[in-house]
Amino acid sequence: MSESTHPLAGIEHVTVIGAGAMGSQIAMVSALAGYTTALVDIADEYVARAKSQLESRMNRDVEKGRRSQEDVTVAFDRLTFTTDRDGSAAHTDFVIEAAVEDLGIKRELFADLDRTCPPHAILATNSSNIVSSRVADATGRPDKVCNFHFFNPALVMECVEVVPNDHTSGETVETAVALARSFGKKPVTLKRETPGFVANRLLGALRTEALKLYEEGIADFEDIDVAAKTALRHPMGPFELMDLVGVDVVYLIRMAEYEQTGNPESLPRPAIKELYEAGRFGRKSGQGWYSYD
Ligand SMILES: NC(=O)c1ccc[n+]([C@@H]2O[C@H](COP(=O)([O-])OP(=O)(O)OC[C@H]3O[C@@H](n4cnc5c(N)ncnc54)[C@H](O)[C@@H]3O)[C@@H](O)[C@H]2O)c1
Repeated sequence: MSESTHPLAGIEHVTVIGAGAMGSQIAMVSALAGYTTALVDIADEYVARAKSQLESRMNRDVEKGRRSQEDVTVAFDRLTFTTDRDGSAAHTDFVIEAAVEDLGIKRELFADLDRTCPPHAILATNSSNIVSSRVADATGRPDKVCNFHFFNPALVMECVEVVPNDHTSGETVETAVALARSFGKKPVTLKRETPGFVANRLLGALRTEALKLYEEGIADFEDIDVAAKTALRHPMGPFELMDLVGVDVVYLIRMAEYEQTGNPESLPRPAIKELYEAGRFGRKSGQGWYSYD
């Protein structure tokens, strides 16, 4: 492929680590935007699953006229599905780590990537909860480490938060912002780290208020959802959204935040704790705030 097809100067090859819900779609976004992209996971079955899910999704998009067959074919030609992390890292310019949310695994990954990627490569994490300062010191290039945070589903959602840690250079932030833009996304740049970044802090505030209204007996949760949808034009009420995301996920995110801040305000609200302990995780368990068949 010729240089000119790469939309951002200095970035030709993007490596995405972790072929799960987020990584697979992020890699597709990157390939569709014109970058030679590798999607890496630890076992063949995971990359094969990601490939088949992306193929189905792209076929649907073509059938519905959202993308042309040609764009999709060219993007798949640029996208490699692999378990050879070192091979891909050796010639990559920008890494987006979207592996499982485990600090130990991420620190090990960042240390390995630091050894195997070229010195100029930026190492970014898509983590929602682990700020990049917690992985940057596992590398010898903390100035080239930041959070690069997509939203689910990454092929659709436009926001990407770029979050520097205390050591991230201005150049790294600029490159990350430009890359997000070239992906067709709307980058939001933070000035410093904070748990939840911007969007999830906003969402958390709304969720906390909704839970307080319910716990204080001011309104039923169904009515609070109706208010959010019909007065604020939110596509979904906060309780419906908790059921979709998973009550367990909501609970665990608050616990992780509490571990980072030590602030009792960060703890899950009592109503969430009750549902979590009852195993009512939302849609995935058939019961959450609402019941599902
Ligand atoms: N799911 C979301 O809504 C969402 C939104 C934004 C950000 N995130 C962040 O994205 C990251 C991934 O989340 P997800 O929901 O895609 O998780 P997931 O569980 O769907 O996928 C994680 C993938 O990482 C792979 N993996 C584990 N260890 C690995 C390693 N050492 N090397 C390579 N791959 C490895 C797993 O096999 C799995 O396929 C997390 O850090 C999470 O905080 C998630």
